[in-house]
Amino acid sequence: MFQRARQTVLHKKADMKTSDLNVALEQAAGAVNGFLSEVLSEERRPPRLIEAMRHAVFAGGKRMRPFLVIESARLFGVEGALPLTVAAALEAIHCYSLVHDDLPAMDDDDLRRGQPTVHRAYDEATAILAGDALLTLAFSLLTAPGLKVTAGKRVKLIGALAGAAGIDGMVGGQMLDLAAEGRFAANGKPQRLGERAVRRLQALKTGALIEFAVTAGAILAPRATTAEKKALRIYGRELGLAFQIKDDLLDVEGEVALVGKALAKDAEAGKGTLVSLLGIDGARRELDRATETGRQAVFAAFGGRAGMLAALLDFNRARNH
Ligand code: IPE
Ligand code: IPE
Ligand code: MG
Ligand code: MG
Ligand code: MG
Repeated sequence: MFQRARQTVLHKKADMKTSDLNVALEQAAGAVNGFLSEVLSEERRPPRLIEAMRHAVFAGGKRMRPFLVIESARLFGVEGALPLTVAAALEAIHCYSLVHDDLPAMDDDDLRRGQPTVHRAYDEATAILAGDALLTLAFSLLTAPGLKVTAGKRVKLIGALAGAAGIDGMVGGQMLDLAAEGRFAANGKPQRLGERAVRRLQALKTGALIEFAVTAGAILAPRATTAEKKALRIYGRELGLAFQIKDDLLDVEGEVALVGKALAKDAEAGKGTLVSLLGIDGARRELDRATETGRQAVFAAFGGRAGMLAALLDFNRARNH
């Protein structure tokens, strides 16, 4: 009884915060855009490369990952240049992942964030190099002198980001994703992955960078308890899952004009998704479950202070882009 009453109070707090979410998302986006705009200055750089990088970064984007870094750091009282730099580094890696994901050799897409993809606006070689340069930029941002962070924390951050981006994270997941389409099989047939395999694939290709975003806050924190770190890991895992389920649902039932990318591609490509395995209703139920589990984890550890992170779970569930 008490438990239920407490949950109602927590839900109310979350609802109150929902109205603030758009403002917080816009603030995070504005800060990270300003930061990256300065970093991606055109002076003394190959003009075509820097233009393509700017196209990749500034063509739009929800900036959800930067928001997560900034909000998770704020939970521990860490604000300012340090979380902003981590947020920008992560967004640079995310944008690189999209540029390469869209290449003809990968998903072969012409539209991204409502604009031509980088290889369409420029050419394939430029898109590959723009992606490479965004990836390496992320790591040079994290080594910038003048950041108020200990060497130990800096190394931890860089290691965690490299892990989330590479073979044990996003890139590994992308490989499994392409393999699931059957493109490396002698008969070219989709692999028909089971639920466990699809969950693993998605946890790597999408979940790893999202998990990094929220655990970064705990790495930057002067002090974070084991319970707090665990709660953020659970939140990140469930949001990552919920986020990719929503992306896959939008592929089936979204509107191109809103989503800003070509849709109805996954089934045709034979992608392994929870939508293909569980159906639309089953995937929606799993989206709801992940949303609720993520919410409970952060409220249990941080109480009302987690309102913004909880609101983001709802934002994801309802988003149309
Ligand atoms: C799209 O990510 C790629 C996935 C991991 C599903 P987002 O939906 O966050 O893309 P932008 O940054 O808002 O364009
Ligand atoms: C891509 O997943 C995830 C990345 C690591 C970029 P998708 O291929 O489903 O992403 P969209 O639908 O093209 O944004
Ligand atoms: Mg893809
Ligand atoms: Mg794609
Ligand atoms: Mg997709």
